Amino acid sequence: MALHTPPLRQKNPHLPFGDHQHSRFYGQDILSVNQFNREDLDYIFGVAAEMQEMVRRVGSFDLLKGKILANLFYEPSTRTSSSFTSAMERLGGSVIPINEVRYSSVSKGESLPDTVRTLECYADVIVLRHPETGSAALAARYASKPLINAGDGIGEHPTQALLDLYTIQAELGRVDGLTVTMLGDLKYGRTVHSLARLLSRFNVRIHYVSPEILRMPTEIIQELKEKGVAQSEHAHLEEVLGETDVLYVTRVQKERFSDPAEYDMVKDSYVITPEVMRAAKEEMIVMHPLPRVGEISMDFDDDPRAAYFRQMEYGLYVRMALLAMVLGKA
Ligand code: NCD
Repeated sequence: MALHTPPLRQKNPHLPFGDHQHSRFYGQDILSVNQFNREDLDYIFGVAAEMQEMVRRVGSFDLLKGKILANLFYEPSTRTSSSFTSAMERLGGSVIPINEVRYSSVSKGESLPDTVRTLECYADVIVLRHPETGSAALAARYASKPLINAGDGIGEHPTQALLDLYTIQAELGRVDGLTVTMLGDLKYGRTVHSLARLLSRFNVRIHYVSPEILRMPTEIIQELKEKGVAQSEHAHLEEVLGETDVLYVTRVQKERFSDPAEYDMVKDSYVITPEVMRAAKEEMIVMHPLPRVGEISMDFDDDPRAAYFRQMEYGLYVRMALLAMVLGKA
């Protein structure tokens, strides 16, 4: 059945008294990194740094007291789902968790637009993860409350890219001038799709290292080329590891393969070990959105360059910032 798609509505048009000046993203959806310019990024990261400081000092506070988040997950998640829950609760709000859509009316055949229109009766903001590219944009058209894309198939994962960029800035002190190497499944990995786009706002060089069948989609390479980003594709990590400032490792996305034999062929293409990392700079970082399934050896975890666990923590502060912003409280 073809869905009737309503036009975009202005969300939350009535700003509460006093919220005008500091509510850049009030009532807005977060669907793609393309909606953020550098000034927006500075603003988000400024708020995230304040959140980080508040969590360190007091743990939780009441900025979003009385607000409710619907956390709607049609795909598995540990970090994204629980960091949004933690973010909301640390801000004094509460959460409707729907992470087993099997037990919701989705299993009775309810459409995404209807599920979203239901949840917004009970919640002030919706976080959505869904296996189809474009699903977040579709859901946002039906919702009058702000909707945050927590991963739409192989499309985008904007909040992950924001926390990735925050991590780079926090760990290395800058983004301009860096060489970023993305490794692994660049075809199906939505985190690298969003991160590459977000990095195009900066003066960076990007290397893509992947097996032939998992190369970065040409439309993304083209998009970045038009923005003047220096990019190159490689089959072997050794070619670029020595000049890399940020090594962004990804999991081969097993669930996106139609042919299991193809997955088996490429699943162990690259493994980061202390030996491999001897060829890398002393001052650089290794990131991973996690979960990892063998592409970074646990023997590397104690290396100061291993930033992936710190990256998860930064995610909490960035998601606190985003929730406060879309709800008009930042
Ligand atoms: C990523 C995702 O879901 O796209 N995980 C995450 O959100 N931290 C990466 C992955 O699943 O490999």
